[in-house]
Amino acid sequence: MKNDRFLRALRREPVDHTPVWLMRQAGRYLPEYRATRKAAGSFLAMAKNPELACEVTLQPLRRFPLDAAILFSDILTVPDAMGLGLYFVEGEGPKFERPLRQPADIARLAVPDMETELRYVMDAVRIIRRELEGSVPLIGFSGSPWTLACYMVEGSGSKDWGRVKALALNEPAAMHQLLSVVTDAVIAYLSAQNAAGAQALQVFDTWGGTLGPAMYREFSLPYLVRIARALKDLGAPVILFGKGNAPHLDDLFASGAEAIGVDWTVTLEDAARRANGRVALQGNLDPAILYGNAEAIRAQVRGALDSYAAGNGGSRDGHVFNLGHGMSPDMNPDHVAVLVDEVHAYSRR
Ligand code: CP3
Repeated sequence: MKNDRFLRALRREPVDHTPVWLMRQAGRYLPEYRATRKAAGSFLAMAKNPELACEVTLQPLRRFPLDAAILFSDILTVPDAMGLGLYFVEGEGPKFERPLRQPADIARLAVPDMETELRYVMDAVRIIRRELEGSVPLIGFSGSPWTLACYMVEGSGSKDWGRVKALALNEPAAMHQLLSVVTDAVIAYLSAQNAAGAQALQVFDTWGGTLGPAMYREFSLPYLVRIARALKDLGAPVILFGKGNAPHLDDLFASGAEAIGVDWTVTLEDAARRANGRVALQGNLDPAILYGNAEAIRAQVRGALDSYAAGNGGSRDGHVFNLGHGMSPDMNPDHVAVLVDEVHAYSRR
């Protein structure tokens, strides 16, 4: 491995400068991504073609000196393989042809076979690892059980997630049955990605933060803990990212995961102080800082780096720089170059 500072930072080992990667670093803000997608015909056609998935994974790395690659795929591949029928409507986001509508739909769910039904993902991981030639580590990922259940029950994105929350409130046993089988699928999926070559594993709990504390503790947290514990023996560090997870950090720090990804509603100083050396932290600038000019971006980056060090006894070790959520299609690639440069330049030990 030519550049292992991302993996070293996840283990809280000393590094020469703070590693950085960005959620959604491959995507529509890159003209070369839009060209590949156009040639493929659609997002899903591209994601299901291992060579094209590899190509778009590598695109941001050709432009910017990022410290990690993330598999190009989607969290909804797992429910798709469980038979729900994923499709995308332009401008409307993901949808399922067969969302879960009654208890029998949940009872019928089974863990998909990773090397047949999700073979295209594992093939993509193998090809990307080969093409990376040891330059930087490859991150595999999955949605969290709660976040996947949100889409599986609603059949699409939602403003208030009313249907899935009603299921949790009215039929908690069915909800736990659903979360349990999805958790088994997530563990199998991430284990298979690791076996295929993914060197770190991130779980996206994008919608856990929409739950109040009691429901978060019942319907999201225990399944994140189950995943972190089940993956411990793999030796690949696990990052639990949660949008709006700040109220739950103390529980997450004790989850068994090597790293916790946080958004911009908490300062890294506060998060690092509370972590007290137990885990690495990943984050956490508002993606909207990329709409700022170069000077503003550099100032924000320095602020986040210094905030982490202030909460971590003056040391920058154990920090993976990232945004607090994914990038948007209208962001300027030149601004990403500024961000990555400032992280490396300012954090150099
Ligand atoms: O970070 C990366 O570069 C890796 C690729 C990645 C994608 N989706 C590609 C993608 C990852 C890690 C994801 C995860 C994902 N997918 C999440 C969790 C992270 C988050 O952002 O909160 C969620 C909730 C999804 C579900 C999903 N997939 C949505 C809501 C959308 C529509 C987004 C939109 O703006 O239309 C997708 C499609 C998707 N997944 C795109 C990309 C680049 C856009 C597809 C396109 O090219 O039109």
